[in-house]
Amino acid sequence: MAKFATLSFNDKSIELPLIEGSENELGVDIKSIRTETNLITLDPGFKNTGSCQSAITFLDGEKGVLRYRGYDIEDLATNADFLEVAFLLIFGELPNQEQLEKFLTDIKEESYIDEDLKKILESFPSAAHPMGVLSSLTSALTAFNPTSVNVEIEEDMYKAIVRIMGKLPVLVAWVFRKKAGLPLKYGDYSLGYVENIARMMFRKPNKEYVANPVVDAALNKLLILHADHEQNCSTSTVRIVGSSHAGLFASISAGISALWGPLHGGANQAVVEMLEAIRQDGGDTKKYMEKAKDKSDSFRLMGFGHRVYKNFDPRARIIKKAADEVLNDLGIVDPVLDIAKELEAEALRDPYFVERKLYPNVDFYSGIIYRAMGISTETFTVMFALGRLPGWIAQWREMRLNKEPIGRPRQIYIGENKRSFVPLNKR
Ligand code: CMC
Repeated sequence: MAKFATLSFNDKSIELPLIEGSENELGVDIKSIRTETNLITLDPGFKNTGSCQSAITFLDGEKGVLRYRGYDIEDLATNADFLEVAFLLIFGELPNQEQLEKFLTDIKEESYIDEDLKKILESFPSAAHPMGVLSSLTSALTAFNPTSVNVEIEEDMYKAIVRIMGKLPVLVAWVFRKKAGLPLKYGDYSLGYVENIARMMFRKPNKEYVANPVVDAALNKLLILHADHEQNCSTSTVRIVGSSHAGLFASISAGISALWGPLHGGANQAVVEMLEAIRQDGGDTKKYMEKAKDKSDSFRLMGFGHRVYKNFDPRARIIKKAADEVLNDLGIVDPVLDIAKELEAEALRDPYFVERKLYPNVDFYSGIIYRAMGISTETFTVMFALGRLPGWIAQWREMRLNKEPIGRPRQIYIGENKRSFVPLNKR
């Protein structure tokens, strides 16, 4: 196989090395193009640009394959515990019992929040969107933990990692509780990581908390499914912010902001709002299918389509099955689940969606499960952020350990040419 691709420009021809990944993916190393030819590459939305070499997550969008560190997502979602998956993503291997216990103990040691940070949370208006609040509080964590910023060596990185793994679930639970008008309480640290998150979130002030194994198992599965997805919008944000050595918490806070948007993690909220609107409008799915296809209408079928998957998103298959099981086990009948299934069936046989290879993505059914658990629509994306945390950490750590350079794309300038300043009274 060729080792180079050749680029010809004017009279010059340069050889660009090919880079091969462990799954035989090929890329062209374009680093020398500008020095050799004065050209840059232009790729808005990075549709065809690799930003790094990564050993964390493998995704084959044509075949619908997703693996964390070589393990199939189906295998992990069925058999693993979220904390094991977090360890796997961050450190590269599944932990043994001793490593897992140490990881959990170290995290528990950090599972508290400075009381002054609690005051910041309390001062947000109750109408504030939970993602905005979570991003702000995560950023504020830096101020309360200044030693977590300058982390050059692995030991300091580890401390910063267990700190955020301990503190973010508390913030998530409190953001949820504030929105629900519940008192802000800590969990029970004799519990496992996920079980404790469920307790922190769902415990009522007026009765004994009884864990619901269906909810715990569904939460564990959802968190695993969201844990990483290689170089998506929020992860690229985390890596690029981290590349300036801004610190882990600041990078994660930026990632949370990126995740918030409805084209990314915010789609889980947008999906349930869309399904609810269709239900209230009489449940006419065909009308909304037409709107989604109409280019003069800004409506899109939320939870459908993906930049990388041109086949079923494997996470969507697992979540669809889980939605049926969870609603069944909890004895909940949610009419929007039927609307979702109807939309999916129609889209899968509609030429518009078939030709464009638009399939349900991870967000199409996840909100229905969160809703069945009693989580408010605006808080869905906060749950996505909680699941994505280990992925963001793993990608940030890899970027720092690889000593990647600061992220700084170039541009093609299309603005005004040089002109002279015009004083105010002459304009
Ligand atoms: N409904 C209707 N048409 C769509 C949709 C949709 N959901 N998604 C894509 N298309 C059409 C789009 O109009 C375009 O058509 P044409 O070729 O005629 O111009 C074609 O399909 C390609 O779409 P694109 O917008 O160029 O694709 P993209 O890779 O830039 O965008 C996407 C990917 C996920 C932003 C987009 O599919 C979308 O907006 N989906 C709805 C939002 C959503 O569910 N987001 C969650 C993504 S998965 C979880 C995550 O990443 O957080």
